[in-house]
Amino acid sequence: SHRASICYRPIEPSDREILEQIHCDLFPIRYESEFFQNVVNGQDIVSWAAVDRNRPNGRSDELVGFVTARIVLAKESEIGDMLRYDPSKPDQTLVYILTLGVVDGYRNLGIASSLIQKVVKYASSISTCRAVYLHVISYNDPAIRLYKKMSFQCVRRLQGFYLIGGQHYDSYLFVYYVNGG
Ligand code: ACO
Repeated sequence: SHRASICYRPIEPSDREILEQIHCDLFPIRYESEFFQNVVNGQDIVSWAAVDRNRPNGRSDELVGFVTARIVLAKESEIGDMLRYDPSKPDQTLVYILTLGVVDGYRNLGIASSLIQKVVKYASSISTCRAVYLHVISYNDPAIRLYKKMSFQCVRRLQGFYLIGGQHYDSYLFVYYVNGG
């Protein structure tokens, strides 16, 4: 065991294979290869990586955590009705968190919290942005606890939102308002 030295950097094309592997390991949902291509090339997606500069065996630049997000138009989103409507600002946007994960062995160090903070800070820096939001499957207690701790508000439970292995699962919709919501 060693003392981790976590640092945050952009996700790059060279991260693609490990990014795909970690998504496969951590999520019950399969993502298209186009998704990974868009993430590593920054096409319509913003993302951050966490790496451990003290990781041994030449793995000091290998992802131990990541967050991916997309900017969406508020009026085209499912939470458009939950924002203060301002007809003079039809270009209002939101940041939608697509995936967030931290590999086993690096959990409970505050990495996911830091990654969420990066997204919130980024969203706050966009003057048209009104909120950060995401879906989480209803049985994912560690993630739900994390979003609540980060002051996200649970605004909806969506029945049967996910279809996994022929089974339907509910999701929660969490929102964090920025720039006055
Ligand atoms: N020392 C000790 N504990 C700490 C520290 C610290 N420095 N910092 C934070 N913690 C605690 C937090 O208080 C929190 O405690 P809680 O469980 O009581 O709330 C706990 O550690 C977790 O917080 P983080 O460390 O910030 O989170 P972590 O890096 O462990 O990642 C995550 C959490 C992403 C949910 C992880 O468990 C994971 O990858 N799970 C599998 C994938 C997943 O479920 N992703 C989210 C799906 S939803 C989506 O993608 C939109």
